[in-house]
Amino acid sequence: MLAIEATLVRIVQWVVPKVNFVPENKVVEFESGKLPYSDHGKPESLLDIALNLGVDLEHACGGSCACTTCHVIVLEGENNLSEPDDDELDRLEMAAGLTLRSRLGCQAVVKGDVKVEIPQWNRNYISEGGKSRL
Ligand code: FES
Repeated sequence: MLAIEATLVRIVQWVVPKVNFVPENKVVEFESGKLPYSDHGKPESLLDIALNLGVDLEHACGGSCACTTCHVIVLEGENNLSEPDDDELDRLEMAAGLTLRSRLGCQAVVKGDVKVEIPQWNRNYISEGGKSRL
């Protein structure tokens, strides 16, 4: 019985992933395959989810992997994100405050629950009016 419940929990987590954006601790959920795609990076990427669900995440290049303003640091659930491809890894090398857990929000596709931090410099940029157009 416990195995069945554990399997059901995994299925629900896969179908309705939760993304926790810190430090605001804003938790959003989305049903995989149901977000209206508005060309915010890869479909169901952290950026796509953020902009669809009211979380400010800078994205100066519009999600085309040409800047690093969507830089986030993965705190939990790294295995629930798509693997970074060569383009993302090359671009990440230019990110301010790069860490071993850094990802580009527009490239990291969410497949399960994750917790990510929006770096301070990015939050400052948005609060000072630098928010990219949706
Ligand atoms: Fe420019 Fe992600 S928005 S690299």
